[in-house]
Amino acid sequence: MSATAELKGAIFLKNTLILKGNIIYAASGSELTAVENGYLVSEAGVVAGVFPQLPERYAGSEVRDYGDSLIIPGLVDLHLHAPQFAIRGMGMDLELIPWLNQYAFAEEKKYSDLEYAAAAYSAFCAALKSGVTTRAAIFASLHVPATEILMDMLEQSGLVTYVGKVNMDRNSPDYLVESTRDSISDTESWVRRSLETYRNTKPIITPRFVPSCTAELMTALGEIAARYNLPVQSHLSENVNEIKWVKELHPDCETYSDVYDRCGLFGQQPTIMAHCVYLTDYEMDLVRERGVLAVHCPQSNINISSGIAPVRRMLDKGVKMGLGTDVAGGFSISMFRAVADAIQASKMYAVLVDRSQAPLTLAEAFYIATKGGGSFWGSVGSFEPGYEMDAVVIDDSDIIGNSPLTLAQRLERAVHLSDDRHVKAKYVRGEQVM
Ligand code: GUN
Ligand code: FE
Repeated sequence: MSATAELKGAIFLKNTLILKGNIIYAASGSELTAVENGYLVSEAGVVAGVFPQLPERYAGSEVRDYGDSLIIPGLVDLHLHAPQFAIRGMGMDLELIPWLNQYAFAEEKKYSDLEYAAAAYSAFCAALKSGVTTRAAIFASLHVPATEILMDMLEQSGLVTYVGKVNMDRNSPDYLVESTRDSISDTESWVRRSLETYRNTKPIITPRFVPSCTAELMTALGEIAARYNLPVQSHLSENVNEIKWVKELHPDCETYSDVYDRCGLFGQQPTIMAHCVYLTDYEMDLVRERGVLAVHCPQSNINISSGIAPVRRMLDKGVKMGLGTDVAGGFSISMFRAVADAIQASKMYAVLVDRSQAPLTLAEAFYIATKGGGSFWGSVGSFEPGYEMDAVVIDDSDIIGNSPLTLAQRLERAVHLSDDRHVKAKYVRGEQVM
């Protein structure tokens, strides 16, 4: 062996990370791949493979043995609001618009106070970090200084996130509204600073939703997104009264989706749209054609009586989908809970709305929560070779009982019965974060 080959070999092994345990992941929605007592090998933060026996070439590398624990890909929360963490479980008898006015906006106002923001965002980051979530797309509030505090804390956490300074220039309370000009210029300077400052925490353009943004503002935001090659996130077609309101505000647009599309907000790299409960067939086609990621937020949709999103129909149409907690429309920040809620909501949709729409299986819901949402970052959310190594180790020993279970059955029980105390370790991009 030449000296350079030896040197290459040494570097190669130095960046190798090997986890041993019961490995289970969803490479597709149609089945779970499970390897008992297997080896998950990654090199420089990228999965090299899952092996029943450790290949010869890795002999001598350190193996982190997690015994009988489950090792799963990290879950992706593709929609939640950091400043609403402090009002989880409040106003749950209201629908969207009154809930926003009485609870969400009143809470977000407080983030002009940096001491309040630091304390509240610290609690939010601790909660996000201690669960099964490894990546997230997060709404902050419209306040830039507080948003930067949140981004500093998330960067410290080791999680990988996109964070949006929220834009609002109409139909909002006096205490939570910006001038169109300030909203645009504050966003652009915040984007520039963020791109220079962080490695794992990226800015995402975040018009709150059509009712709170003028077409002028949304068009300018679309231009910023295009100029800096940034993704966009917003809300789409969540609640019947909201949709009516959008129709009144934009009588010239055929649908809610058309408003975003005309403002250049539908084709960014990519665009995330939360909810999509009431999309028409035409809108589903547009969402698919523009590569928009639709985020299902089942618990929020139930809590604030929005409805049940037709997930099966969107999947059949080829719409890309992720899953979100929508804290605090959703009271739980647990992505395991979101998986369980997605399955429950799909069963009620089948029973109460349309018998032809089969409920989601565990594999499908888990796939949407991992590889589905992970597609926002590229190759994320699976243990196939080439995927970024985001993994969560679950010690389910106290919930599996005495009868022998398959790994798929154990995953199902963990999804429904485990909590943060069962999370034993977490890796993001090959680095251990807890
Ligand atoms: N639509 C606009 N803003 C919000 C929000 O904060 N939460 C939810 N669920 N929907 C919204
Ligand atoms: Fe939301």
